Amino acid sequence: MTSKPHLLITNNFHTPTIQKLDLLFHIHRLWELDSRDQGKLITKLNGSCKAVASGSWDCNDLIYNLDSLEIIAAYGVGVDGIDLVRTKQNNIKVTNTPDVLNNDVADIALSLVLATTRNIVNADQYVRSGQWSSAQMAYGSGLAGRTLGIVGLGRIGEAVAERALPFKLNIAYHNRTKKTSEYTYFSSLLDLAKASDILVCILPGGDETRHLVNHQVLSALGPDGIFINIGRGSAVDETALIDLLSRNAIAGAGLDVYSTEPNVPLELRKLKNAVLLPHIGSATMEARHEMGDLVIKNLVAFFSNQKLITEVS
Ligand code: NAP
Ligand code: 8YV
Repeated sequence: MTSKPHLLITNNFHTPTIQKLDLLFHIHRLWELDSRDQGKLITKLNGSCKAVASGSWDCNDLIYNLDSLEIIAAYGVGVDGIDLVRTKQNNIKVTNTPDVLNNDVADIALSLVLATTRNIVNADQYVRSGQWSSAQMAYGSGLAGRTLGIVGLGRIGEAVAERALPFKLNIAYHNRTKKTSEYTYFSSLLDLAKASDILVCILPGGDETRHLVNHQVLSALGPDGIFINIGRGSAVDETALIDLLSRNAIAGAGLDVYSTEPNVPLELRKLKNAVLLPHIGSATMEARHEMGDLVIKNLVAFFSNQKLITEVS
């Protein structure tokens, strides 16, 4: 009988997937060990373990001490948690889980657009707290005819645009490269912000996008402007965002992602003009299941010398 290949798993990214992986591989749960025992496990696996499965933005740098490492199968599409410089240097293949989560992440973007423009969270609080009988609630603002700017019109951005069109929003976008698309392209992010009523950020994380959405870009939205972030917190200057929201220099923000998750600054948590979600863009049973299946399929392809399904180039 051939023994199952070793698989090191860095974190408990999706319990049902890990249970399936357990049937196919000899799995090692790194997150269950203290740091000393983690080091010992890596030493023990050196030479025999070629594969790691990991949350795509929540990895563990110890894995790079595994000289025999050949593949990291990441659960998630944004691979900012993986050290792509080291994986390239060491010829380690990386896979991620694109596309299967587009619809559900885009739904969260639209939820945030509606929640911010129509004050949904404050309206709920208004009813629960009994204010309805005694106080007037502030009006929201409508969507039809306004401009939704998308920074990062990729796989998820396209799904956001598709959903925004039936709300009669005009779509504009900024990417480094203009696409063949009917949406209005801005080569400058600042110009996109100036032209937008609502700016949705779906940028990947990492050094290249760090604080691209800065004070100037956010200010350009103006006092009626809304900012939504479903990409990565690192792409936004969060201090600038808090400053502008607290002075009502922009009208509101809807956020699924933050600079230092899960620690959201208290100043942000206090703001009534911000709707805050705990990074739940892909958190549906369906998307998480399909993401897990892609992790498994990539690992199975690797160990059968087949082409990887979704390799990060
Ligand atoms: P994608 O298809 O690669 O799209 C990324 C887009 O960003 C591309 O259109 C790219 O266009 C643009 N872009 C990249 N770097 C840029 C830069 N420096 N300046 C301007 N535009 C830039 O990725 P995706 O699948 O849509 O996912 C996008 C990101 O969403 C992921 O990386 C992840 O961080 C985040 N995400 C969040 C959740 C959540 O739960 N909230 C779930 C899934 C993904 P150009 O290359 O032409 O610039
Ligand atoms: C997370 C995400 O991966 O795919 C991404 O890039 O941000 C999310 O889908 C998910 O929360 C799993 O940890």
